[in-house]
Amino acid sequence: MKNLAVFASGTGTNFEAIADAIEAGQLKAKLTLVVVDKQNAPVIEKARQRGIDVFAFNPKDYSSKPDYEREIIAQCQAHHVDFIALAGYMRLLSPLMLEAYDQRIVNIHPSLLPAFKGKDAIGQAIDYGVKVMGVTIHYVDASMDGGRIIAQRVFAVQPQWSKEEIEAQVHAIEHVLYPETLKMLVEE
Ligand code: GRF
Repeated sequence: MKNLAVFASGTGTNFEAIADAIEAGQLKAKLTLVVVDKQNAPVIEKARQRGIDVFAFNPKDYSSKPDYEREIIAQCQAHHVDFIALAGYMRLLSPLMLEAYDQRIVNIHPSLLPAFKGKDAIGQAIDYGVKVMGVTIHYVDASMDGGRIIAQRVFAVQPQWSKEEIEAQVHAIEHVLYPETLKMLVEE
């Protein structure tokens, strides 16, 4: 069985969806580590309540990205991590991290990539007036929301929906698509 790490910066609803799928036996993997770059992110408490080890760091305590990534890699190795799922982790990875886990790091993004990369992808899509939206899971490379696409799911935007309703739809899809895609990627 493969060991997973989830990297997050915020609320951690995707972390919860992955952890729930594992607990329910729908995803046969072990979640051994959660890596967080914000000391007060709600995901930290959520992980601890489930008894999952957390490495929470402050990038400002390190002189450079490779400096803290070396520490992340050491933590991943100590937790025998085979595969990494970024779930709202708001940082680009350096070649150090990418080489250590070559083809074994994926990310989820709330748009149909390559459209609407970066922050507030849902807001960008709404401003554009798009009529179909969706979620993408992709391999991670050094660029922002770049890397080869693994899975996408689409939905039609109902004209009366508020931004909150659209966000709820995006998240509902994410919470199904991420565990399903990880299943395809990590189960032997
Ligand atoms: C998700 O919408 C994900 O697509 C994006 O960041 C958000 C993270 O949400 N990359 P959460 O912390 O998992 O609730």
